[in-house]
Amino acid sequence: MVVILNDRESFRAARTIRTMTSSVSRSATAPDPKPNRPRVFSGIQPSGTTHLGNYLGALRIWAKLQDDNDAIYCIVDLHALTLPKEPGEVLAGTVGMAKMLLAVGIDPDRSVLFAQSQVHEHAELGWLMQTVASYGELSRMTQFKDKSARRTGFVSVGLFTYPTLQAADILLYDTNVVPVGDDQRQHLELSRDIAIRFNSRYGETFVVPEHRIPAVGARVMDLQHPQNKMSKSVDSPQGTIGMLDTPKEIEKKIKRAVTDNDGEVRYDPKAKPGVSNLLELLAAATGANPADLAENYSQYGPLKADTAAALIAELAPVQKRLAEIDDQDAINTLHAGAKKAAEIAAPVMTRAKKAVGLL
Ligand code: AMP
Ligand code: TRP
Repeated sequence: MVVILNDRESFRAARTIRTMTSSVSRSATAPDPKPNRPRVFSGIQPSGTTHLGNYLGALRIWAKLQDDNDAIYCIVDLHALTLPKEPGEVLAGTVGMAKMLLAVGIDPDRSVLFAQSQVHEHAELGWLMQTVASYGELSRMTQFKDKSARRTGFVSVGLFTYPTLQAADILLYDTNVVPVGDDQRQHLELSRDIAIRFNSRYGETFVVPEHRIPAVGARVMDLQHPQNKMSKSVDSPQGTIGMLDTPKEIEKKIKRAVTDNDGEVRYDPKAKPGVSNLLELLAAATGANPADLAENYSQYGPLKADTAAALIAELAPVQKRLAEIDDQDAINTLHAGAKKAAEIAAPVMTRAKKAVGLL
């Protein structure tokens, strides 16, 4: 259930929620009518192949958080434009991502699911965010440094200002908690800094959000280059497990995953990144602890076999549901979600403009 709050009153209410805990679990069929649940917001880009890192680090947690929170999930199509795209590519990705999010269990009856470009307040607040973030801060963002260094040609200004749009996404919804993978830690810190700066410059306007990074699976590494994270934007097909990979492909990729020569199964991400990544994957899929799991193995072969089997079992239900979802149903869900999102975002945008003092 999503509750619409207005102006400064809503700001106060939203801030109070931040201090509340959310430990009571509820069934999917009987959502709690209590309005003041913590607000959760997160986003994912509709580009490239959705992979195991996205799923373990973010998407499956998004699905869980629907039980006890007021959840809003956004396909950030405007963010995807920060790297050059063919016309229509982002739209196809958006529909595909909507289907994926429905398949992982995002339930439009319990959450708001929408595409960023359909709620114009994101771009509008994004501009205000640019005026309270500094050039120096944005220059320190490692994602910008990595992505711009990897490109030989055109680097858009949007790639540089990307984190200010992300801050707008979050702050527009009086968000308390942002579930993300470890790579978003720095962007979340910046969103917090921007919210605090805006509030001190213009008066209390935004809720200062907190990140939620999972203990296991927050940084899934590339199977071929285990010192790098698994990524949509890096071309490493053998190092990346896609959500749609078949059991055979998963087995093959895990079997060929890079390990090391000392033959010892131990959880030590610095010294043994490949083996530790396998342990982490197995732990994420089974709910165990990676260091404890290491004690069950003396060779890499059985560890790889068990990891592949656990991942295949983890992805099978998602793949089955995905095959049953229709494009048009996904599009309809996004349209309905955008209406609900706009009802929440519009008063917050007005609140921000009033705080700044615009006509
Ligand atoms: P993106 O693919 O950049 O749109 O990321 C969507 C979500 O997946 C974000 O919350 C990321 O932090 C998370 N994520 C991306 N790559 C990984 C990874 N290799 N391991 C864990 N989480 C990830
Ligand atoms: N930058 C995030 C990523 O690359 C995607 C994103 C955009 C996001 N806006 C957001 C995540 C708001 C959380 C909240 O993964």
